[in-house]
Amino acid sequence: MANPVSGFSKKSKTEKIEWLAANYLADRPDAIALLKSYWNDDPTVQRLHDDFIENTLSNYYLPFGIAPNFLINNTLYALPMVIEESSVVAAASNAAKFWLSRGGFTTEVLGTQKNGQVHINFYGKNDHIVGFFKEIYPKLIATIESLQKNMKKRGGGLIDLELQDHTETLDGYYQIHATFETLDAMGANFINSCLEAIAHTFETEAKDYPSFQQTDLYPEVVLSILSNYVPECLVRAQVRCPVEDLSDKHMEGHEFAKKFVRAIAIANAEKRRAVTHNKGIMNGVDALILATGNDFRAVEAGVHAYAAKDGSYRSLTHATVKDGTFTFWIELPLALGTVGGLTSLHPMVQLAFDILQKPNAQQLMEIVAVAGLAQNFAAIRSLVTTGIQKGHMKMHLMNILNQFQASDSEKQKAIIHFKEHTVSHSAVVAFIDTIRS
Ligand code: MEV
Repeated sequence: MANPVSGFSKKSKTEKIEWLAANYLADRPDAIALLKSYWNDDPTVQRLHDDFIENTLSNYYLPFGIAPNFLINNTLYALPMVIEESSVVAAASNAAKFWLSRGGFTTEVLGTQKNGQVHINFYGKNDHIVGFFKEIYPKLIATIESLQKNMKKRGGGLIDLELQDHTETLDGYYQIHATFETLDAMGANFINSCLEAIAHTFETEAKDYPSFQQTDLYPEVVLSILSNYVPECLVRAQVRCPVEDLSDKHMEGHEFAKKFVRAIAIANAEKRRAVTHNKGIMNGVDALILATGNDFRAVEAGVHAYAAKDGSYRSLTHATVKDGTFTFWIELPLALGTVGGLTSLHPMVQLAFDILQKPNAQQLMEIVAVAGLAQNFAAIRSLVTTGIQKGHMKMHLMNILNQFQASDSEKQKAIIHFKEHTVSHSAVVAFIDTIRS
């Protein structure tokens, strides 16, 4: 067993790598060279990446791909996608192409408010804390004046503070619920700084408030933090077309629409299906969130909570057929940034923004929602027609061939062979054995 290490973060990068190799990688003589082989040739770029987190040893590649032909609100986009799953970019591109000749995607931002809370314990009389909050409200606002000066100049900042009584859910639990407009910033740092300042003033002022002094029962701040649940920062994306226009070589339009709508109904009714259904949506969403340097954990947490907003976990997409028109849409809560954080630091993120023609945060919300909708369309389309494995395994063929270090000519032969045959891991292994023997 390795010994505990102290002062690890103070070691140089090379010392850290050597420590790791000596303590955990004794049977991997290639480890040090492998870690170093992923360093960027340009030391400035490497230093930038080293500084993103603590104890960086190397870089970890994911493919950066492009899904072209996305017609969104009559503008044509190519979407940068960072993802490891082989069929995702192909699926997005297929869906984009399908809707390109059927009017494309339309979107609407339904709200942009973000929020955070100061979570408070108070076991005294409700009147006392309500009275106190009313009295110090102006001071709470004043306490963040300097913090929000720049944000306010640009038209954002704190929108409102509200004292909420949650004592029926949890004994003694109150919160100050704060809503914010953070414009093109995701706003986490701004919101958290404001909340901590508000919490400090709230607690300090409480010490001098007569009703608390008389009862010796003071409110106590437990913690202050933004919420990643952002149902008021919401975007809608949609496609629609006459049902006949859905026909393709796999299925006639009416039958396709009927099966498609039913597939969505199942994902609405059954959470085991809903989770996989929504996972497919997040294939598209996360790939764009990663490419644009946004926080995919925040988005994931918020989106899944939204999928369960009525008490049951449900589909994030919806579909109807009315008067011969097929409509398919998604509503997603997305708190995204196009300035600040990684967006101004990571060279590939900056490139992704340039590919997207420098969107602001609202435009990025729209594009990301479209990516989610497109991904779900492609998945459901495959599932209700050919099944998912045909396309998926076709894309996965190259990964299996690479696992067996197939040469270029072996790959070519395999591609030709598997045009006519079903791809499976064992079929590819058997094929390689045959051509090698
Ligand atoms: C695979 O990554 C995603 C799907 O499972 C989504 C779905 O089932 O809807 C294909």
